[in-house]
Amino acid sequence: MKRICYATVLVAGSLSSIVHAEIDARAIAFNCRNCHTESSLDPKSSISSLKNVSAQQIRQALLDFKYDRKPATLMPRLAKGYSDEELAAVAEYLSRK
Ligand code: HEC
Repeated sequence: MKRICYATVLVAGSLSSIVHAEIDARAIAFNCRNCHTESSLDPKSSISSLKNVSAQQIRQALLDFKYDRKPATLMPRLAKGYSDEELAAVAEYLSRK
């Protein structure tokens, strides 16, 4: 009986580590950099490079896009694809780069 209990704990433990998997902010940021690049091929591009924008500002903009509080074209669709935690993580990552 004891052995079964240990097994249950082990399974529950590994499941929770899947749920709380580390967010790979760098991988998400690669996606952002497709558009938000510092060396845009088009010098007239209106898409911000996000350089010198704080993590707090990026995070707030992303949440506003996600919850339709900020009218826009592309970003609401993109932001809806990520959890709030992922958006916070990528905002933090981008503000450091
Ligand atoms: C396909 C191109 C594209 C990708 C990919 C993209 N963006 Fe955007 N982003 C835009 C456009 C276009 C705007 C202007 C708002 C709009 O119309 O959606 C914008 C606006 C923003 C703004 C507001 C900037 C400002 O000056 O107001 C932030 C912050 C932002 N994006 C962050 C991100 C993050 C973080 C990612 C990655 C998760 C990302 N974007 C991925 C195209 C893109």
